[in-house]
Amino acid sequence: IEEWMQSAEYVTPLKKSIVVGFSQLGTESAWRMANTTSIQDAAKESGITLVIKNAEQSQTKQFEAVRSFIRQKVDVIAIAPVVESGWDDILQEAKRAGIPVIIVDRSVDVEDSALFVTTIGSDFYEEGVKAGKYIQDRLRNVPGTIRIAELQGTSGSTPSIQRGEGFRSILGEKNHILFSQSAPADFTEHKGRQVMHGFLQVPEEERPQVLFAHNDEMAFGAIQAIQRAGLKPGEDIIIVSVDGSRKALQTLADGQINAVVECNPLLGPQLMQAVKEVIAGRTLPKRMVPREDIFTRESASREMLHRRF
Ligand code: AHR
Repeated sequence: IEEWMQSAEYVTPLKKSIVVGFSQLGTESAWRMANTTSIQDAAKESGITLVIKNAEQSQTKQFEAVRSFIRQKVDVIAIAPVVESGWDDILQEAKRAGIPVIIVDRSVDVEDSALFVTTIGSDFYEEGVKAGKYIQDRLRNVPGTIRIAELQGTSGSTPSIQRGEGFRSILGEKNHILFSQSAPADFTEHKGRQVMHGFLQVPEEERPQVLFAHNDEMAFGAIQAIQRAGLKPGEDIIIVSVDGSRKALQTLADGQINAVVECNPLLGPQLMQAVKEVIAGRTLPKRMVPREDIFTRESASREMLHRRF
């Protein structure tokens, strides 16, 4: 009995449950929904109480959420920030309240990095590099100028900034490569369709041969626009997207996308582990990055079996 009383199973119910306030930035993509579910499931599994607020792409709403978490005196605040800049003051408020903050998925650009404990999320720059290398290999023997169109994500967001930079680090300096069109489409399918439709309103000789879509949803929208223009996605225009939802892998297997760079949304277990470590007073690394891959037509069907979103 004594041994059992000292075990975690006995002690846990007597302890007050840890409360985490989580400001999720929105619901724009399958990736985002999977990210939310992963965090909810992991909280439940860890016996952590989660208060979650959807900011609907508004940084102002994220500030309101953080303030409400401070009023509720939660133990830890987690934020998936919609954009990188503008976080200094609100994080100072959390600091004054003595509540540790964990940044999830995207990053914040603040003067004092002590304002948050850690950032748990993907290496978006590396994702852009992977996309760039795929295009470089794929078009190695194609003569003449290659025109590349780019559907960026939300302006000012880490994945949009860093995927663009990583991609250009591979292709940006090449004389025969022209970034002919680039515009934000907010990581959504309907904006992807709309912006791609605009990209295609040019004479045939100016049409892009490559599309880099910063996420799957924008690639799906673009595919519809390409088809409506009487062209074949994946053939007339080579398409690379980022995330790797089951639907994207299916579209890859069907040949309408040519490569998908993986971005892992299942950050819940790592977040809850970090929460427990913070509460226990342990020090965490400033950055935690999941391992990620790139999928091509050959690996798509196999990968689809393991996909959770
Ligand atoms: O921050 C991660 C990005 O946000 C994902 O690539 C995209 O699908 C999501 O909306």
